[in-house]
Amino acid sequence: MRVADRVAVSPARRVAGVLRVPGDKSISHRYALLAAIADGRSTVANYAPGADCAATLACVAALGAIVSRTAARAGDEPPLVTIDGRGLRGLHAAPGPLDCGNSGSTMRMLAGVVAAHPFVSTLIGDASLSRRPMRRIIGPLTRMGAAVTAGPGDRPPLTIRGGDLAGIQFSPETPSAQVKSAVLLAGLQASGETVVTEPASTRDHTERALAAFGAEVRFGPPSTHPSPHADSGSLKTSPSTYPAPHAEPGSLRTSRIMLRGGQRLTGRELTVPGDISSAAFMAVAAAALPGSDVTITHVGLNPSRAALLDVLRRFGAEVETAVDAQWHGEPVGRLRVRHGVMRELVIAPEEVPEVIDELPVLATLGTFGGSVTVSGAGELRVKESDRIAELVAGLRAMGADAEERADGFQVRRGAPLTGGTVHARHDHRLAMAFAIAALGATGPTHIEGADAVAVSYPAFFEDLDRLAATD
Ligand code: S3P
Repeated sequence: MRVADRVAVSPARRVAGVLRVPGDKSISHRYALLAAIADGRSTVANYAPGADCAATLACVAALGAIVSRTAARAGDEPPLVTIDGRGLRGLHAAPGPLDCGNSGSTMRMLAGVVAAHPFVSTLIGDASLSRRPMRRIIGPLTRMGAAVTAGPGDRPPLTIRGGDLAGIQFSPETPSAQVKSAVLLAGLQASGETVVTEPASTRDHTERALAAFGAEVRFGPPSTHPSPHADSGSLKTSPSTYPAPHAEPGSLRTSRIMLRGGQRLTGRELTVPGDISSAAFMAVAAAALPGSDVTITHVGLNPSRAALLDVLRRFGAEVETAVDAQWHGEPVGRLRVRHGVMRELVIAPEEVPEVIDELPVLATLGTFGGSVTVSGAGELRVKESDRIAELVAGLRAMGADAEERADGFQVRRGAPLTGGTVHARHDHRLAMAFAIAALGATGPTHIEGADAVAVSYPAFFEDLDRLAATD
């Protein structure tokens, strides 16, 4: 599906309807990477349709996994990706650089995969990815035994000479699911055990996916150093194993993940849940516009991704969820969001890691009559764009009372937006966030660079059109 690079969005009175959003981007990357190093064949239904996940497939294919895609099956069945894996440490050197496109997840997680292979890989990306920090993975992968070099300022391209790795104990400074995953993927292929202790819990799809492919992954609260005064102050830890009925590590503020190296994975038949971060755009529109009522079906409701729903409830929206099934350890179900009241919303630093991708669209709530204040979100400056500067610039261009802060922003209750012309700055989540803000404007909004939505949600504008009502 080709998206025009300039899209006009008209104001809407409300949004209503039932929708299925594309497959989850985070889960799709992980299934592709794990399938590539598993023994045997995996099939992945509802694989995310965007360019980011296509980049991951192209990279694993260049490394020797056999990848094929069928077109959509009968009815509205989504397309199916088939991957014949090469087995643990069984990938081959790629004939050229591995192009990760716009996708930080591809580059960081793939780095963990190739670091354990005895050849040189070069990982490149587009202009945006080439500005993003890679020190965070270079450090741990080097400690594990890989030789990694990067461009100036530890930015891409990455050159990785992989080999025999040894497991490490690792505590990242910044909470990051991509970094945790890179280390776990390398740890799976290393000798000994790898332990990652997170400063705050982040999405746990890698842990659930590893378990789905047959690995044993244990998790628990962080360990404390042995106390010189026997027992005093030491935490009694009894790790749980994925999948566990009570496995809700998203509810742990910090967590420790343990993975024994050398475990072989087995190919699986998988289906990817709908992406809650894509659903977030429609959910925010429903929370913001009076009279709205939107239901999203088959959506992933993993607790480590669902903090958005608590935020929407706090804002005043009516939010209902129902888990209908577990797909390979991932809860899937329905999400219904209706407009309620609009309150002032404050998002605290400790909440940020679990709503990091939703912050641009949550910011737009402030333009509808609430107000939104976010702090502790400096990470937004090193995403696909500087999401603090570009978000505030775009919302202001549409008439918002918005202010940039070093590690966040504030969007204040004010007059309705007027609309105007904004630039998405090659950032898919900004293009979609501006489209949601545009629904509440008094005039049309022209979004330049709207084709960026192809990265994660190519049918976004069609779906929004179907839900938006003007009567
Ligand atoms: C992702 C983790 C997050 C998120 C990104 C996807 C993942 O990045 O922003 O869109 O799939 O693991 P960080 O790990 O850099 O926080």
